[in-house]
Amino acid sequence: GQDPRIQKISSAIRVIPDFPKPGIMFQDITTLLLDTKAFRDTIDLFVERYKDKNISVVAGIEARGFIFGPPIALAIGAKFVPMRKPNKLPGEVISEEYSLEYGTDKMEMHVGAVEAGERALIIDDLIATGGTLCAAIRLLERVGVHVVECACVIELPELKGRDRLGDKPLFVLVDGA
Ligand code: PRP
Repeated sequence: GQDPRIQKISSAIRVIPDFPKPGIMFQDITTLLLDTKAFRDTIDLFVERYKDKNISVVAGIEARGFIFGPPIALAIGAKFVPMRKPNKLPGEVISEEYSLEYGTDKMEMHVGAVEAGERALIIDDLIATGGTLCAAIRLLERVGVHVVECACVIELPELKGRDRLGDKPLFVLVDGA
């Protein structure tokens, strides 16, 4: 069966209908952060999975990958690398464009934060269409990093984002409503 911690994590995530626009069921992880046991369990589940996988980089996606990524990175002895919205990082960056429902967005990473041959885990709170994770994978692979797996707290399975990742493994804790 399923790990008994999963149900509590799922219950601690608040779903807010019609945010930020009509028809969207927003998966609000801020309530998970208020539940110290469920938040700790969330981090522990990832740490248990990745601690012996020889991962040297945890790449966290802005914004909520910045909440879950650092405690995982510290616990597994990896560095934390932020994958940011455009024009936020002060140093030299490489960037990757990706498509949104309307238009495109860009993700940036500092040059020199990672080296070719390193093994990375990508962390975000949620996978919807998968476009964001795909851009993060491309950015890291362009500089020769091996992306071992992507991990999210929540997956919206109806959007089939997992298919978009091809054969890159995706690990999630819960399905979103
Ligand atoms: C959300 C979520 C993921 C992304 C997933 O971020 O936190 O990063 O969307 O969507 P996708 O799988 O369809 O690409 P959001 O756009 O809300 O940005 P924010 O984290 O900066 O608020």
